[in-house]
Amino acid sequence: MPTTPTALAEFPGGARLFGLSPRVAHLNHGSFGAVPGPVARARRRLLTEADADPDAFFLAAPDRLATARGRVADHLGADREGIAFVTNATEAANLVMDTLRLRQDDEILVTDHGYGTVVSAAASRARLNTVALDPALPDEDAVHQTVLAAVTPRTTVALLDQISSPTARPIATPRLLADLAERGVTTVVDGAHAPGMLADPLAGRPDFWFGNLHKWGYAPPGSAVLAVAAAHRAAVPAPVPSWEDHRGFPRAVEYRATTDYTGWLAAPEGLDLLACLGAQQVRAHNSALAAYGAELLARITGLTPLPGDDSLAMRALRLPPGVARTHDEATALREEIAARLGCRVLIWPWPGGGGIRICGQIYNRPQEYEHLAAGLHSLLAGR
Ligand SMILES: Cc1ncc(COP(=O)(O)O)c(C=O)c1O
Repeated sequence: MPTTPTALAEFPGGARLFGLSPRVAHLNHGSFGAVPGPVARARRRLLTEADADPDAFFLAAPDRLATARGRVADHLGADREGIAFVTNATEAANLVMDTLRLRQDDEILVTDHGYGTVVSAAASRARLNTVALDPALPDEDAVHQTVLAAVTPRTTVALLDQISSPTARPIATPRLLADLAERGVTTVVDGAHAPGMLADPLAGRPDFWFGNLHKWGYAPPGSAVLAVAAAHRAAVPAPVPSWEDHRGFPRAVEYRATTDYTGWLAAPEGLDLLACLGAQQVRAHNSALAAYGAELLARITGLTPLPGDDSLAMRALRLPPGVARTHDEATALREEIAARLGCRVLIWPWPGGGGIRICGQIYNRPQEYEHLAAGLHSLLAGR
């Protein structure tokens, strides 16, 4: 076991900012995020306010949403009128597909690293052209070439991950987006992990981009944004046509009659907190922790680190052949790791043998990865 590098000193006050159970090692921030106390409290204050005077709260909601959206846009480097609050990446993907008014014979290019619900949104509207990306492809160039080579004359849309979920792999790079646009392909980027994780989440300015604020942006669950290039904004339908419909994007997308807006209104607090902690320091800390965890896991026989991006706070490794080949096998292993080791990780299925993804966050400690690695070693050896 390598000694814990001093660079991995605790992030000052990191763990205390969250209300996470100390009985569990939460090494899976990338799936659902976690809400820091100050953000949760800001949301509770908004709920109290709504309960105290519902008329005042709901009548002011559209304008307050616009203000909150502006703060989020400033953090993301987006145009204040070019993004809209949405509930999550899955909703955004469906909204984009409705905007595009696809015909059944239009072809949407996706990869086999795409997130299930997002790919389903495309599959239900048009034909998929699914590019197989070997998780072991060595570098960005190889991914770039493989995706571009799959474009056909019928490819109208490419729906690509900015950072893939299971394999933590950058795919929709600015260079790839530019090359796709040059071929007349409309680009849609699933940036679920980008807000908070990347310094320039909208890099490459695709036609459509969506990102969750509730993962790496410390916002309450159900907070995401959809960014739409100016040329497409008028075509975006309102998910729930209501009183702001006549105002078009983004207000028509955001205002959904009487519902709970407190998560969106509190979302800027999450990004403010990240900025206050020092976004660069947080990212450096998180990626160093994830790298340390991956290094420990890679010492287990049969586990192979996958190429990714060293600056990210997520790392993926292939599991030994024959482990987690199917969804059911992956779920069973994930649950066994949770029950026996008290660790939350993502286990992803893949034909022949799946993989494990771990994350680093300011509430994590090196000892948690050491515990996971030691436990996983015994658990796999016992199979
Ligand atoms: C790449 C990617 N896209 C989409 C999603 C779906 O996010 P949501 O559940 O917020 O819709 C996830 C969730 O982990 C993801 O990792």
